Amino acid sequence: MTQRIVITGTDTGIGKTVFSAGLAGLLDGFYWKPVQSGLDGETDSDVVARLAGLPSERVLPEAYRLKSPLSPHRSAEIDGVAIKAANLTFPVLPTPLVIEGAGGLIVIEGAGGLMVPLNRRTRFIDIFAEWRLPVILCARTTLGTINHTLLSIEALRARSIPLAGIAFIGDEMADTQRTIVEMGGVPQLGRLPYLDPLTDKTLRDAMIAGFAFASCTGDH
Ligand SMILES: Nc1ncnc2c1ncn2[C@@H]1O[C@H](COP(=O)(O)OP(=O)(O)O)[C@@H](O)[C@H]1O
Ligand SMILES: [Mg+2]
Repeated sequence: MTQRIVITGTDTGIGKTVFSAGLAGLLDGFYWKPVQSGLDGETDSDVVARLAGLPSERVLPEAYRLKSPLSPHRSAEIDGVAIKAANLTFPVLPTPLVIEGAGGLIVIEGAGGLMVPLNRRTRFIDIFAEWRLPVILCARTTLGTINHTLLSIEALRARSIPLAGIAFIGDEMADTQRTIVEMGGVPQLGRLPYLDPLTDKTLRDAMIAGFAFASCTGDH
C-alpha cells in the first residue's frame, strides 16, 4: 500500500526540504515537489536527491517548474502558465511504485506555508484539503514560532485536514515546543537540529536520533 504524507511548514526557508530529504531517506521512500518556484541553482528536488541518499528515480518529476523564485501564483503568471488544481491530484502522480509493484512512502512537499497562492483563487491549503492526506507541519523553534504554528494548526483544523504532528527544526526550545504542543493539541513528532555540516550522513543520523518513527525502519 502506498502511503503519502504532506510536508508543510509555517513559512518558507524553515527547513521543509531538508526534513523531507531526511524522512524520505530514512523510510526509503519517494519525494514529490508538485510546484517548484525558482530554477536557478539547486531545486528542492535536487537538494533531496543529494541529501536523502536515494536513487534519482525516487525523486518524482515536478508537475510545475516555474522560473522565478516567487510565490507560485506570481511565478506562474510571469511564465505565462496557469496552475490547475486538476494537475495536482493523484491520478497524475507518476508513481514508480506501480511499476515496482511495491509499497512505499511518498513525501510530498508544498511550497512556502499553507496560504501560499497557486493562482488568484487557489491556495496550497485548498489542495491539501482536497487530498485529505496526513500533514506534518514543520515549525522553527526560534522566536515567533508559537504564533505562526498555532495559526497554521488552526487553519488545518478548520478544513479537517489530518495533522500527523509537528516536526520542530532548530535548537531545542523546551518551553516553546511544549507551549505549541499543549495549546495546539498536537503531537510533537520530533526535532531536527541545525546541522553543520549538513550531509546525507549527518541528516540521517539526526533523523534517527530526533524522531521516534526512525525506529520503525528496523534496520538501524
Ligand atoms: N536541519 C538543518 N541543518 C542545517 N541547515 C538547514 C537545516 N534545515 C534547513 N537548513 C538550511 O536552511 C535553508 C532553508 O532550508 P529548506 O529546507 O530549503 O527550507 P524550506 O524547504 O522550508 O524552504 C537551506 O539553506 C538549508 O540547507
Ligand atoms: Mg523547500
